[in-house]
Amino acid sequence: MKRWIKWTAGGAMLLGMIVAATAASGLYLAEQRRNRYIDIKPRPVAYTTDAQTIERGRYLYASRGCTDCHGAQGTGREFVNDGKGTRIAGPNITSAGVVGRYQPEDWNSVIRHGVKPNGRPVMVMPSEDYNRLTNEDLNALVSYIRQLPPQESTQQAVVDLPRPAWVLYGLGVIPDAAARIDHQLAPSRPVPAGVTLANGQYVANMCIGCHGADLSGGKIPGGPPDWPAASDIRPGSHSADSALARYPNAASFVAMLRTGKRPDGTPIQVMPFESLGQLSDVDAQALYLYLNAPVGSVKQEVGSAPTQPPAQGTKSSANTVPSGPGGLKLPG
Ligand code: HEC
Ligand code: HEC
Repeated sequence: MKRWIKWTAGGAMLLGMIVAATAASGLYLAEQRRNRYIDIKPRPVAYTTDAQTIERGRYLYASRGCTDCHGAQGTGREFVNDGKGTRIAGPNITSAGVVGRYQPEDWNSVIRHGVKPNGRPVMVMPSEDYNRLTNEDLNALVSYIRQLPPQESTQQAVVDLPRPAWVLYGLGVIPDAAARIDHQLAPSRPVPAGVTLANGQYVANMCIGCHGADLSGGKIPGGPPDWPAASDIRPGSHSADSALARYPNAASFVAMLRTGKRPDGTPIQVMPFESLGQLSDVDAQALYLYLNAPVGSVKQEVGSAPTQPPAQGTKSSANTVPSGPGGLKLPG
């Protein structure tokens, strides 16, 4: 009996030590991972000031989620604060804030690649959603942000996650956006506006940060534990009991985006309806068309739009500048 207790106590102690050691090394690795240097050479963004481009940028800023975390005026905003250790806020991105000294390539680096000008990964911001932006849309988005009135704001970037989340980040179970992005992939080619599969697929890129690269849903990596899993919204895959089956036509789907409610009136959690509700009718209907496309009619992986055949057997890209000998460093 005594020996048994000894064994159990010994086992528990050993297990405790293993758990503590894993947690400690996980936190250590998280620190390392967060401070790793990501060597990419993004193309500069073209700054413009014409009214049509700024208007397109305004639309993208409002409908693609930037407002949720950076505020309508770009002065920064708290996105999550669950009172249990998860607090996330985007910083001030008016010219009075962190972007004040940005070079044209820094915008591409942060938005499309999830890499700050100093080469470190951004935390939480879903750059994987923005990696597929066309050059024209990226230029428009940045041109819009740059003309926002500079405003001082006390809102700093906040990325507080509970310890277990940092441990999982350190162990690589929850990768950051920069780790999920294929940095060699060329940007999407221009997608004409319209209620088309191609445009729907393009808009659906903003869903992958939460619904996954193939839109199959599941637990949102790094989200608070009480968040429900994201639904499976793979194009053409829905059976009678899937979430998409609740929306028999585009009108019911668009109404859901506008109201944040299912047809039966129950509220849908977590989805950023402040932004999603801003999607134009054309983009929302194109999205519906895409999500309901028969299997095989669209490329399954949302994250990879068609690219030019690679030159000389290497992955060439119109998005990043090839490495020179010794590797050029990012400015800043
Ligand atoms: C889910 C929240 C979220 C969304 C959506 C989001 N961001 Fe961010 N963003 C953040 C957070 C958090 C940081 C700070 C990250 C850090 O410091 O690690 C940040 C940082 C930034 C930075 C500054 C990076 C630096 O420190 O140099 C820029 C610029 C930026 N975001 C632009 C955008 C734009 C443009 C959009 C929309 C296309 C967007 N963000 C969408 C959360 C978000
Ligand atoms: C910030 C994370 C997030 C983003 C971004 C997001 N979703 Fe969701 N989505 C969720 C979660 C979580 C649920 C499950 C909600 C629940 O069970 O209440 C969900 C549920 C759904 C549902 C099922 C609704 C129902 O009737 O139950 C649909 C359809 C959907 N999302 C479509 C989309 C589309 C399309 C996009 C992109 C345009 C998108 N979502 C972007 C997190 C997100």
